[in-house]
Amino acid sequence: MSGHVTISALDIADARAIAAMNVRNRADIERVSPPQPADAYSEAAQVARISSILRECAQGLRAHWTILVDEALAGDISLHRIYRGPVQSANVGYMVDAPFRGRGVATAALRLVAARSFTHLRLHRLDAEAMPSNVASLRVLEKAGFTRVGVMRGYLFVRASWEDHIHYELVGPDFVPPST
Ligand SMILES: CC(C)(COP(=O)(O)OP(=O)(O)OC[C@H]1O[C@@H](n2cnc3c(N)ncnc32)[C@H](O)[C@@H]1OP(=O)(O)O)[C@@H](O)C(=O)NCCC(=O)NCCS
Repeated sequence: MSGHVTISALDIADARAIAAMNVRNRADIERVSPPQPADAYSEAAQVARISSILRECAQGLRAHWTILVDEALAGDISLHRIYRGPVQSANVGYMVDAPFRGRGVATAALRLVAARSFTHLRLHRLDAEAMPSNVASLRVLEKAGFTRVGVMRGYLFVRASWEDHIHYELVGPDFVPPST
């Protein structure tokens, strides 16, 4: 691994840099994501998207970080569908800017998020899914200690069809959840 990987809480001031990063990685994002509106890659759309994400973060429904390598923006990583009560789980997703790939950045960021999930965020499990064709993402999950659970048939509508995904999980330490 070359460079020091850190994660930083998403900020509205990141919108311009994230918009530019998403434009650079558009083909890769579209290969693994549901269809987006035509203007989704504009800076204005990113401001709106990040504002919405930050509202959900403030409500405790998700958490989102930028990934930095030696202070330079290199990607983003998020927890969504944060469920509390007796479940205490979240779903994780990530993207690394193409010039930073293949040097352990996603794996390092995912390990940081997992550690934070099981300490500060008091979660009990993380789930993640990747398409069978997304070999890099499957490898990231395995390197970060996630366990393959099985195939989710037609889990997500990607581009023009419902795509199977491999479901992974990482279970944290046991604790007694707060009563609801
Ligand atoms: C998936 C993604 C986040 C990986 O980021 P990254 O920083 O390059 O990941 P890492 O360097 O930590 O690990 C990648 C691993 O996959 C391996 N890999 C990458 N492409 C591969 C391929 N085509 N075949 C086999 N292995 C491959 C790398 O060799 C590395 O494994 P290694 O350390 O054992 O050599 C990045 O490719 C990306 O952002 N893709 C587009 C968005 C995406 O797919 N997000 C995930 C949605 S589930």
